[in-house]
Amino acid sequence: MDEPAYVTEALIAEDIDAYLDQHQHKTMLRFITCGSVDDGKSTLIGRLLYDSKMIFEDQLSALESDSKKQGTQGQEIDFALLVDGLAAEREQGITIDVAYRFFNTEKRKFIVADCPGHEQYTRNMVTGASTADLAVILIDARKGVLVQTRRHSYLCHLLGIRNLVLAVNKMDLVDYSQEVFDAIVADYAAFARGIGIEGFTALPISGFKGDNITAPSPNTPWFKGPTLIEHLETVEVLAERDSERPLRLPVQWVNRPNLDFRGFSGLIASGSVSPGDEVRVLPSGKTSTVTRIVTLDGDLDRAVAGQSVTLCLADEIDCSRGNVIAAADAPPEVADQFEATLVWLNDEALHVGRGYWLKLGTQTVSVTVQQPKYTVNVNTMEHIATKTLELNAIGVAEITTDKPLVFETYADSRTLGGFILIDKLSNATVGAGMLHFSLRRAQNVHWQPTDISREDHARLKNQTPRVLWFTGLSGAGKSTIANEVEKRLALMNRHTFLLDGDNVRHGLNKDLGFTEADRIENIRRVGEVAKLMADAGLIVLTAFISPFRAEREMVRAMLPEGEFIEIHVDTPLEVAEGRDVKGLYKKARSGQLKNFTGIDSPYEPPEAPEIRVNTSEMSAEQAADFIIAQLLPLK
Ligand code: ADX
Repeated sequence: MDEPAYVTEALIAEDIDAYLDQHQHKTMLRFITCGSVDDGKSTLIGRLLYDSKMIFEDQLSALESDSKKQGTQGQEIDFALLVDGLAAEREQGITIDVAYRFFNTEKRKFIVADCPGHEQYTRNMVTGASTADLAVILIDARKGVLVQTRRHSYLCHLLGIRNLVLAVNKMDLVDYSQEVFDAIVADYAAFARGIGIEGFTALPISGFKGDNITAPSPNTPWFKGPTLIEHLETVEVLAERDSERPLRLPVQWVNRPNLDFRGFSGLIASGSVSPGDEVRVLPSGKTSTVTRIVTLDGDLDRAVAGQSVTLCLADEIDCSRGNVIAAADAPPEVADQFEATLVWLNDEALHVGRGYWLKLGTQTVSVTVQQPKYTVNVNTMEHIATKTLELNAIGVAEITTDKPLVFETYADSRTLGGFILIDKLSNATVGAGMLHFSLRRAQNVHWQPTDISREDHARLKNQTPRVLWFTGLSGAGKSTIANEVEKRLALMNRHTFLLDGDNVRHGLNKDLGFTEADRIENIRRVGEVAKLMADAGLIVLTAFISPFRAEREMVRAMLPEGEFIEIHVDTPLEVAEGRDVKGLYKKARSGQLKNFTGIDSPYEPPEAPEIRVNTSEMSAEQAADFIIAQLLPLK
């Protein structure tokens, strides 16, 4: 039961320190409210803020001045006015993001995320739900379980919310009927079981009238459960659950103010730590012992999940940003291939095979996503075959990272199992994901060290390897110019090899067409081959349209600094089309050839190529001479 208000007042009067201490150590519950348009979300949130009388200060002063304008005074905020204000604010912010509201009771602090309910706002819901301990799923008692109810429940469950409240609202409009309530609960229970929801708490409420919000309602004598506030005040929050798990500290930065102090700082994601504990640093697996736990308020004897600390270790072991310090006897896994659920958040669909940044806690790695196994219809939970993921789609796919990730499954840890995907060129967040498990297939494949090194190969050929990457429209003159450059290099006794688009598509890449996904794969393979040839000491020339910046940058990143030379064969579309050596532009214009670069498939010109040649101003021979001149001295 709640402490009566006078107890608190007495505490404030007698011992302000004790009061503040109690307030400071209150746990915080983050929750999300989901419902469709008329389920009464604003009314419920308004009711919670109003009844807790703890409206966040800004809102309070705004509402006070509003109510003054309307002739009411001071604290007498009109409940209806408050609800209107919340609803209007949410509509304004609807496309931007999620509205967060704060309130307090004697027992806890609360942050509630108010997310728009329509399907096109799936990403907003995902944002709100990814940090929530609990979800309140609102149902209009007159309407029962709707498509939206299912979608919201599915998303909340997917994002790891284990505390679900089924708030059957507007009970006043169904005469507080137990029958109606029981039927809705039974209906929902059947659905919930089907998607693996283990349990939920159902409450008959009226946000408008205030039934079962802060006090048990006399209108529902048949209901023996808690009030909404009681439930919110007592349910276990994630931080409490996380402190029971083994230690995980993702390292944010390494402190080295002087030689005898080297500390590893970060937020403890789970578990607890004390000086003397044995810890293991991942991914290296090295162990050591904690000597000190340093904080701004001095050293600690023990620190737990949710605290930011700096750990000092007994041994000088390697540990840097992105590493994870874990309990030595219960370390997390390390892997580079996974199955994951992805939620796509970008207008531009997922590019299968393209490199994105994957950010998981403090780790950032490059990742490629395979063709998804399926997407989920979020309204029916049906699995649908797909080639990619469009905005708001949710799908399951295998992903591969370029470096090993220290991880846990999302079910065990949101911190080490949840990630975001970032576009490498625009830096926009394009997706969010949850790791299911690692794939073992790479586990028994190790890099085989060889005795003749890359440097030995190059030295024997008396040259520095290079990849001369020609890019430009079809018919721009890439192959012709690359051929001229190769001839000149041969005369200079250089060891070269020319990889040409049309030729490679007869062999290695004969299974690929001209969709975006196939072009990405085309360039990925050519990039890998070019890299192997450069490792063999060759000067490699490649002549591919290679229309996308991201893949050209991917190949650049695969090679040592300075070895990738991007050459833009910059021929305007009119000129290339005017030449139309292979008659392909004519076919494309007449619609016989689909996805033709420059016509109905994009070309992204290089922004800062090492070399640019304009073939409307130079012959192929002149362009080749110019390129050779730019490359000299060719050591
Ligand atoms: S890339 O886009 O994947 O880099 P690539 O350089 O391998 O393309 O192949 C381009 C060549 O394929 C063109 O020079 C042209 O001869 C031929 N081609 C056939 N269909 C297309 C198409 N739809 N778009 C562009 N080129 C095509």
